[in-house]
Amino acid sequence: MIAVQEEKILSVIHRLEEEDTEDRRIRTEQGKDPNREPMLTLHPHSARLCHIMVQSICAKRLVEIGSSYGYSSVWLAHAARITGGQFTSLEVNPKLVEIAKQNVAEAGLTDHVTFIAGDARETMASVEGPLDFVLLDCWEALYVELLDLIASKLRPGGLLVADNVIPGREGSDEYIQALTDHPLMETVSVPIGKEIEVSVRRLE
Ligand SMILES: C[S@@+](CC[C@H](N)C(=O)[O-])C[C@H]1O[C@@H](n2cnc3c(N)ncnc32)[C@H](O)[C@@H]1O
Repeated sequence: MIAVQEEKILSVIHRLEEEDTEDRRIRTEQGKDPNREPMLTLHPHSARLCHIMVQSICAKRLVEIGSSYGYSSVWLAHAARITGGQFTSLEVNPKLVEIAKQNVAEAGLTDHVTFIAGDARETMASVEGPLDFVLLDCWEALYVELLDLIASKLRPGGLLVADNVIPGREGSDEYIQALTDHPLMETVSVPIGKEIEVSVRRLE
């Protein structure tokens, strides 16, 4: 069975996937457009895996850091609707918050998301825990700094998925090492999509 059955939601997901492909093509060929923020959406396979993980642990409190245009927000809002949970999306760029809100509204999922504009290093403090599932998908340079904050809010057994973490790459290795050394966390690198790091707050 396909992950999402509703045509309204699927059409937003597919449109954003197509727009992201085009966005990447234009940036590769013409360089960054100063008038347009890059989309940098989660890879569809990673989004599907997050959707499965949320259901698998029946996550009720979900957070993402980095909404961008709202692609992963649509997936996670839909997952939160399935579990009857609450989903909060944190984004530093207020223009992107508005775009993400529009896309989530078009998918009919507004009631399942709270967007908070601001730097997640500050706004995360206002997010009530314990959290069941966190998608970390902002700038990789911030991952190590955000790790303690996230780990302290995750419940034991709660999952942390960080996108674009590639073993052997500078930046990624620091994050993987911080997780490996972390007393509360257990972690594995998963080569799906643009490569993700999947971590759990240990039960013991
Ligand atoms: C890779 S994109 C997110 C893609 C999104 N998850 C999706 O699948 O469509 C990274 C996003 O993180 C946001 N960001 C960067 N630093 C941030 C911070 N300190 N707090 C919150 N968001 C941040 C950027 O503005 C950008 O929109």
